[in-house]
Amino acid sequence: MASELNLQITIDVLDSAAELSEQEKQAMQLAQEAANHAYAPYSNFLVGAALVLEDGTMFKGSNQENAAYPSGLCAERTALFALSANYPNQKIKMIAVTARRRSSMEFLPAMPCGACRQVMAEYEYKQQQAIPVLLQAADGKYYRLRSVADLLPFQFTKDHL
Ligand code: THU
Repeated sequence: MASELNLQITIDVLDSAAELSEQEKQAMQLAQEAANHAYAPYSNFLVGAALVLEDGTMFKGSNQENAAYPSGLCAERTALFALSANYPNQKIKMIAVTARRRSSMEFLPAMPCGACRQVMAEYEYKQQQAIPVLLQAADGKYYRLRSVADLLPFQFTKDHL
């Protein structure tokens, strides 16, 4: 009989912003600010991502759409690629992501898409240090994952090449 492999993922559920650390609050605020600057004339879905770096500085990204739809890019990858292009050796201490519709100031659950998870996983692997991910969740709550690996089990990495 086949054996089972059971995966366990722990997510900290924070009921409101009051439960975030000071740095997490700042990162979420920056992600919200980034979402306000998204270029999303087609989906009107504004996504913001903030990266907290090892030295405490923060770096933001937002989704950038294009009339040729597949040419656009998600907020998470915009932030990560820009960071890596400008500061290739800075380690990332946290990624915060939030989203809203253009029509409302209410921030909505922001679950990174599969391609963004893959890219996040690459940089986590590269820096050999877990990157916690803070996500806007429903009803003003937040999810804190301890590592990108928790968002992407059975990763494809350079080890497989
Ligand atoms: N989007 C992101 O920026 N991040 C994600 O993880 C999911 C989706 C963007 C892409 C597109 O501009 C808009 O949200 C609607 O899919």
